Amino acid sequence: MTKLSVNINKVATIRNARGGNIPDICQVALDCERFGAHGITVHPRPDERHIRYQDVRDLKPILTTEFNIEGYPSADFLKLVKSVKPHQVTLVPDPPGALTSNAGWDTIQHQGFLKEIITDLKQAGIRVSIFIDTDIRNIESAATTGADRVELYTEPYASDYLINREKAIAPFIRAAECARACGLGLNAGHDLSLVNLKYLIEHIPWIDEVSIGHALISDALYFGLEETIKKYKDQLK
Ligand code: PXP
Repeated sequence: MTKLSVNINKVATIRNARGGNIPDICQVALDCERFGAHGITVHPRPDERHIRYQDVRDLKPILTTEFNIEGYPSADFLKLVKSVKPHQVTLVPDPPGALTSNAGWDTIQHQGFLKEIITDLKQAGIRVSIFIDTDIRNIESAATTGADRVELYTEPYASDYLINREKAIAPFIRAAECARACGLGLNAGHDLSLVNLKYLIEHIPWIDEVSIGHALISDALYFGLEETIKKYKDQLK
């Protein structure tokens, strides 16, 4: 079964709006685990506008499921993840001020840069995934960087799904088949929701893990966190 990793950035955004510790990030992460999430994802950004570096340090010792840290591999980010040692690091190419991740790596242009960082992280015992679009050349090149997995950037799928879902899924199936043929594990994330998740998994059942934040936390406003996590896991069956 595809694993569900809950991205808790949005929860930190609410906390940061008032400066106190409500809602408590660590408690929310533990509750996600208790309600059946297979993992927790965080994406500390350089300006710490949602998840802070200290949150990452606080979460590691208390989590009992898979911990996935996403981010641009700046010197500060690499220092953080090498000291925290999560199960997985997902490298994203975002420039520092990016609102959200909105493109995958050009693994051809950044081949050397990625190779060096991935080697270093793998030596530290961390599984490495790299965020990627559906361009086949980028996926083939990703395989030669030493990455363990690729994470498909699913925003184009999510937006095109509403217009023509057969057309929307087609490049993702091709990309996923290419990743599998290259021996890469497969994650997916961005704009996945109760609307589009089931169809994605039906067509690409070998996805190892999805990381979902915005829609899941928004759904929790209506259904509650426990029921929402159950609904997302039902889509993965
Ligand atoms: N994967 C990556 C690399 C991301 O940057 C994000 C957003 O932080 C997600 C997955 C989750 O996207 P969403 O919040 O739209 O579910």
